[in-house]
Amino acid sequence: MSSLRITGGQRLSGEIRVQGAKNSVLPILAASILSGGETVITNCPELSDVHAALDILRRLGCRAELENGVATVDSSSMTGSDIPDELMRRMRSSVIFLGAILARCGEVTLSMPGGCELGPRPIDLHLSAMERLGAVITERGGDLICKAPALRGARVDLAFPSVGATENTMIAAAGARGVTLITNAAREPEIYDLGEYLKALGVRVSGAGTSTVTVEGGPYRAFARHRVIPDRIAAATYIAAVASAGGDIVLRGVEPGHLTAVSDVFREMGVGITCEGDALLVSAGKRLMPPRTVTTRPYPGFPTDAQPTLMASCLQCDGASVFVETIFENRYRHVPELRRMGADIRVDGRVAIVRGGRPLHGAIVASPDLRGGAALLIAALAAEGTSEIIETKHILRGYENIVENLAALGADAGRAD
Ligand code: EPZ
Repeated sequence: MSSLRITGGQRLSGEIRVQGAKNSVLPILAASILSGGETVITNCPELSDVHAALDILRRLGCRAELENGVATVDSSSMTGSDIPDELMRRMRSSVIFLGAILARCGEVTLSMPGGCELGPRPIDLHLSAMERLGAVITERGGDLICKAPALRGARVDLAFPSVGATENTMIAAAGARGVTLITNAAREPEIYDLGEYLKALGVRVSGAGTSTVTVEGGPYRAFARHRVIPDRIAAATYIAAVASAGGDIVLRGVEPGHLTAVSDVFREMGVGITCEGDALLVSAGKRLMPPRTVTTRPYPGFPTDAQPTLMASCLQCDGASVFVETIFENRYRHVPELRRMGADIRVDGRVAIVRGGRPLHGAIVASPDLRGGAALLIAALAAEGTSEIIETKHILRGYENIVENLAALGADAGRAD
């Protein structure tokens, strides 16, 4: 699917099921090589990032398949320990394999992750955590060679609650002798979910999802089965779609508790959000109120991944909305594309000011990155006329069947090619 076509003006109605969490299944797939046994992961979303992770597992010599939402990994046949350069470039979050390969093989070679659409993506916190656990890391020609014949438990004080660094440390610690204590750990639900999977492998984990996590390796179980949590960012994206287009929908398979900061902002805008078990009932009229300043923060604060799509829905607000992006340096790449649709947004460093209430018009726009691409979809739902969104490969990295889902909800959406 190289490009999408959306004709705005259709209110949304109906029910869809929200996919399993991309940012949970990726570290769990990496951790599945720890045991040398078999792992079955259910509620696994069909995404290009997931297929990239499965390709890395196969290149490492594992058997890895995904069928009908069930991923199966058998890492007994693992032989490799290098993350191939092209796969590292294909998916920046491949760095999540660092801790797992180090714990399983005692050494790993990976290319320095380039930047990405969101700006420089350093991995200094990952590397210093691996060194705390006993790894020796050298650089040779753009590659990182990490060696750790025997990882040992240690205290790891993270300078920033990095999601990936927390995950890499937990996974490496599972293969270390002794107890590891991680302070200032990321508290995202995906961290809790990784902890639950590690426990299913036989690892002793406590505090996952809080700022202080302890991990102690133990004999692994030969088989582990795990159901991935719902994707809170995908859910936030569909709420933004209703806010932008108007309508009434039901989101099934959601964990409302993971969405508190997001729901609070949309309710402030006048979007109706009611929880019923694992479903969210979401409704919105045509006029919305601008929220108070939205500042992105580590969990449980407002998630940076929901900033672009919320911004697109704020274009339907009567008044100005202010955003402050504190997590990534370059997360406003959707703004120039939204301006091509008539949006009035000014950016000054980390601050963006959105003047809503102006009519949007269809345009040809290019998806700059995963969540920025979703923001263009959200804006196109409310634009007069037809938009064509190109570079949709970014969107497919993280959203399962998003066009089919929007069409099922009544949007005039489809593939343009
Ligand atoms: C995870 O990325 C998510 N990706 C991101 O989602 C998400 O935006 C991010 O966490 C924050 O919630 C996955 O889980 C696969 P970080 P990650 O380490 O782990 C800096 C999406 O759209 N930093 O918490 O890379 C970093 O530069 C993606 O689904 C260092 O300085 O995020 C950034 O400014 C996008 N040194 C900040 O911390 C390090 O060693 C947050 O990064 C690591 C990170």
